Amino acid sequence: MSEGAKGAAGAAAIVLAAGAGTRMKSKRPKVAHEVLGRPLVRWVVEAAREAGIERVVTVVGHLREQVEPLVADTQAVVQPDRNGTADAVAVCADALAGFDGSVVVLSGDCPLITAETIGALVAAREEGDCACVVLTMDMADPFGYGRIMRGADGGVERIVEQKDATPEEAAVTECNSGFYCFDAKALFEGLAQVGNDNAQGEFYLTDVLEICRRAGRKVAALRAADPAECLGVNSRAQLAQAQALMRDRINGRHLAAGVTLYDPATTWIGPDVQLAADVAVLPNTMLMGATTVGEDSVIGPNTRLTDTVVGAGCAVDETVAVQAVLDDGATAGPRAYLRPGAHLMAGAKAGTHVEIKKSTIGPGSKVPHLSYIGDATVGSGVNIGAGSITCNYDGQAKHATVIGDGAFIGSDTMMVAPVSIGERAVVAAGSCITRDVSPDALGVARSRQTEVEGWAAKHQAASKG
Ligand code: UD1
Ligand code: CA
Repeated sequence: MSEGAKGAAGAAAIVLAAGAGTRMKSKRPKVAHEVLGRPLVRWVVEAAREAGIERVVTVVGHLREQVEPLVADTQAVVQPDRNGTADAVAVCADALAGFDGSVVVLSGDCPLITAETIGALVAAREEGDCACVVLTMDMADPFGYGRIMRGADGGVERIVEQKDATPEEAAVTECNSGFYCFDAKALFEGLAQVGNDNAQGEFYLTDVLEICRRAGRKVAALRAADPAECLGVNSRAQLAQAQALMRDRINGRHLAAGVTLYDPATTWIGPDVQLAADVAVLPNTMLMGATTVGEDSVIGPNTRLTDTVVGAGCAVDETVAVQAVLDDGATAGPRAYLRPGAHLMAGAKAGTHVEIKKSTIGPGSKVPHLSYIGDATVGSGVNIGAGSITCNYDGQAKHATVIGDGAFIGSDTMMVAPVSIGERAVVAAGSCITRDVSPDALGVARSRQTEVEGWAAKHQAASKG
């Protein structure tokens, strides 16, 4: 947990997530788009939570039926008409009635905001007894942002939107990030006085700052330590930018914690993934969801693990795994596909072009080449020869295969489930096993080889003839 954690305990937060996000050109609402597998609005809520904020109100509107489930742990408030940012905050008045303290306003489309910065905004407002502290950033190209107009005392006098700015005002490079901490009372009293006499005919939240200032309250600006935190996602290009920034931030944390990343630029690790020290991740690898990896394991290259648990000392090479479990010392790939319920126990192997679904491969057992194993329970010390498969599906239902400890399955065996192969049994290569094989027995199920003496020589002579 980071330094800023709990820095804003006691504050409330309003997350603005009602906008349409037209420039995304999407059937989905903008804030539902994901950065490293987590929706934009969820990143913002998580940052507020990490800052210690318990009371979070989310303003929803456009396609709210898709947004509300993403923020089910917050109080959703509907903004019926999107009349501007002041209108969006004003619809939260009832939800926060009687609340007296700091209210942080966050944009639901800015996933990079951190708990530290939220904590710093709250601290700056409370320590300075300000009506509002706005987070600002200096932009080489400030076009489109609200500009910060500072007074002679360094405080903020007002914020001017791009469309309302004179050329002199537009030349200011200090910009409004859209993140604020307000005193609750000053916020809701100020909102009541906001009009829409401006270039866009909208109710601007930024007008509350000027209203507070004119009422004699202090309004301050806090410069963002890292302007990247304020990146808003309005387009697919900005979504890609946010993905890359978040990737770098998360990778930086793993590097600092003792994880080797051969090529951080092609290593994509989700926010909930846990990697032990001395894990090595090779290029072109995605680790997503609730994936965890134990120490000394080597993952990649060209690997995607989702909700997969990897123990210590494993090697996972060019593999796709979803909801799979690899115990210590297990190996997968190159080119294994481990599907939900695949469990490789200690030292087990799923080798090249091997697919495993809903099956346990016992300790030290090997499935080295070109196999499909589904709905199977494989004991320890089993060897499954190249090209062997479980025929687990009869077109209607799935059936189980059980292979006992120490069994040896010859290459190219078909095991037609339901079927079991006893401990230490041997199955002859090329068998189609439809009945159980007893422990210690040899199971053979293939047609016998015959020989026609001299046939080949005659055949060749005839074709030359
Ligand atoms: C706003 C600020 C601007 C700042 C910029 C930073 C105002 C008037 N301007 O401008 O100073 O530089 O953000 O990105 O506030 N929203 C609603 N309901 C509405 C309108 C907006 O929920 O009726 C939400 C949007 O979905 C978005 C956020 O509020 O998440 C900001 O709204 P947007 O229209 O993008 O404001 P900007 O014009 O970018
Ligand atoms: Ca915006």
